[in-house]
Amino acid sequence: MMMRGHFITLEGIEGAGKTTQRDAVAAYLRDTGLDVLITREPGGSEIAERIRALLLDPVNTGMHEHTELLLMFAARAEHLHRRILPALDAGTWVVCDRFTDASYAYQGGGRGVPVARIATLEQLVQGVRRPDLTLLLDLPVAMGLARAHGRSAPDRFESEALHFFERVREAYLVRAAAEPERMVRIDAGREPAAVTADTLAAVRAHLAGAGLDASNEEVPVQGGARSP
Ligand SMILES: Nc1ncnc2c1ncn2[C@@H]1O[C@H](COP(=O)(O)OP(=O)(O)OP(=O)(O)O)[C@@H](O)[C@H]1O
Ligand SMILES: [Mg+2]
Repeated sequence: MMMRGHFITLEGIEGAGKTTQRDAVAAYLRDTGLDVLITREPGGSEIAERIRALLLDPVNTGMHEHTELLLMFAARAEHLHRRILPALDAGTWVVCDRFTDASYAYQGGGRGVPVARIATLEQLVQGVRRPDLTLLLDLPVAMGLARAHGRSAPDRFESEALHFFERVREAYLVRAAAEPERMVRIDAGREPAAVTADTLAAVRAHLAGAGLDASNEEVPVQGGARSP
């Protein structure tokens, strides 16, 4: 019997360290012998990446918040059904940079779209599917933006004002407090090694909770195998 993969997401404001920690999580899981798919949102599949370009392009000023929300979920439908679910079904673990918590944080907290509308789209696109583990990389907004701006020209979201990101951060923290089983808050305002240590500790705890020890994967009972 094939063991289903787990779906791990990384969340946080710009510059929180999601991409850095995502790669550390993926490397760690591969070291334990698991197959891993690394991906991101918005995007992660061919059509979804085209929607991403629309969403991030700074020339698209004045996009209605419902357009933004619907494009996010349109991209997510493609990504989830074309890539994430087939990978999980094949036993691959999926490590994804942002997912639906980002819609609640940015379109909900940031833009002010009511939570119930986001929940309706979540239900439509995902049914009952949720990440198995979400790592929230939390840090002061100014620190995250300073890291992100050191890197490249700001995209459509990065051009937002500080108070926008304060609302995004707050919405993330509210979700983490409401779902402590799934979401782990990590203090991301520290040096990379300290953040990675806490991130991997959360992943190890998740593996242990799933009955997988850190040294190697559980040997699932095969169809024909007999128990003693
Ligand atoms: N703990 C850290 N301390 C200092 N710098 C860091 C830390 N983690 C990552 N960085 C650096 O900050 C920048 C942003 O990190 P990273 O790209 O991982 O963040 P991100 O959350 O993926 O950002 P974005 O939302 O913009 O994609 C990078 O240049 C990275 O090298
Ligand atoms: Mg990133």
